[in-house]
Amino acid sequence: MSELMTMMEVGGPLAVAGGGAAYLRARHPAAYWSTVGLPVSVARLLGSYGSVMDSCGLTVPPSRLRVLATRATTRREVRPVPPRRGMLRPTSTGMRLRLRLAPGQEPADVAASAERLRHAWGVHAVYVDVVKPGVVELRLVGFDVLDRVRMPRKAGGGFLRVPVALREDATAFVRDYRAIPHQLTLGATLSGKSMYLRHLVAGLAGQPVALAGIDCKRGVELAPFASRLSALATEPGEAAELLPVLVRLMEERYDLIKARQGIAPSTPDEEITSDVWGLPEHQRPVPVVLFVDEIAELFLVATRKDEERRDEMVTQLIRLAQLGRAAGIYLEVCGQRFGAELGKGATMLRAQLSGRVCHRVNDEPSAKMALGDIAPEAVEAACAIAPERPGLAVAGDTSGGWSRIRTPYLSLADAAAVCQEAAHLVPDVPALERFRPVVPAQPVERPISLVKPWPVTD
Ligand SMILES: Nc1ncnc2c1ncn2[C@@H]1O[C@H](COP(=O)(O)OP(=O)(O)OP(=O)(O)O)[C@@H](O)[C@H]1O
Ligand SMILES: [Mg+2]
Repeated sequence: MSELMTMMEVGGPLAVAGGGAAYLRARHPAAYWSTVGLPVSVARLLGSYGSVMDSCGLTVPPSRLRVLATRATTRREVRPVPPRRGMLRPTSTGMRLRLRLAPGQEPADVAASAERLRHAWGVHAVYVDVVKPGVVELRLVGFDVLDRVRMPRKAGGGFLRVPVALREDATAFVRDYRAIPHQLTLGATLSGKSMYLRHLVAGLAGQPVALAGIDCKRGVELAPFASRLSALATEPGEAAELLPVLVRLMEERYDLIKARQGIAPSTPDEEITSDVWGLPEHQRPVPVVLFVDEIAELFLVATRKDEERRDEMVTQLIRLAQLGRAAGIYLEVCGQRFGAELGKGATMLRAQLSGRVCHRVNDEPSAKMALGDIAPEAVEAACAIAPERPGLAVAGDTSGGWSRIRTPYLSLADAAAVCQEAAHLVPDVPALERFRPVVPAQPVERPISLVKPWPVTD
């Protein structure tokens, strides 16, 4: 009887604690990590560091001096030496650890063992970053941070830098317009492209930047941000008027730079190496970010007359992508596919958009359109995105690096409210004045009935 009592006294609380931990792990992984996961992983790491490094092949034979010193002072066998490790730095999502590589080792050796290290220390993932020659940082992530995205507090935003999503290694993915001026975002329908745009609009709303939009879905995605937009085109006809104005604006800015440099106005634009950022502040024009949602709509044509208009628009977009950066004009292009089948100029325009984000796609060729020229593994990763996780994407740039990212959820209403609050920040760009969308002075209070009254007949 007494044994039964003892079992209940000990086993009861243990079962409750185990159940609580399992619940915490499933429902609140961040809280689980801070309370249970972190101490357990730290203990495993500290206890098994040498042997794990050895079994991963990351140790080197000891120096002769070390062999002599060990033999002279202890009777222990002389073990191979793992990379010297720095202090463990716990974070809210994992922990960090610096390693000094032994002579002859390279970061790729450690990166190749990342999967083995993650199993040995019981963490969700291990990433390897080079800090400086000879020193790497192991970034251990405790749980799947892309499941419920929470942006880090220090996300690294700033002027023309928007922390738009979270990377799988728990760092912020920052859309930096000055580093990567133009970007292409691809994805199947309902994959999260517009959510991505929404974050960018909301992030730029508070900055001295002119925002222009081409949304050929009759404006359903961008019209809610009308109060902060300097220009909005909601069908290809309007886009065909807006694009030449932007090209002219770009040319005027080049003239301004030339005038400042004292170069004759006849010098071709391509030869100007400086940009608007070199101008004194009072002369510097505001940057313009042009959002294009559903780019394919600009390419699709029904008649021969439309074809001419399409060709003109594509040429203007290519010119903006080619020369826009120096004039402070940036492109953010979204679409479901962006291949040669769209028509003349499509691949040339795509080649100019150096930032690439690929959401879930329906087929491999679509992923290749975004990431094919970056890395084959990136294409595979994009093809493996599950439909249950909208907003998940693979981000790469043409330098070959890529990572999995996911935007946090931001409702259209919240993003529209941000734009409404920032409405007074719409910069003065006279050229775009006539494209400024009309914002209703009062929100519509009565629900509009879409049902037409049916006349009562006898
Ligand atoms: N990061 C996210 N977290 C949670 N839900 C998301 C996320 N991103 C998108 N969603 C949801 O997925 C759905 C589709 O998103 P979105 O409208 O951005 O897709 P889309 O790619 O623009 O689709 P379409 O091509 O039809 O315009 C929306 O209901 C949105 O709320
Ligand atoms: Mg969309």
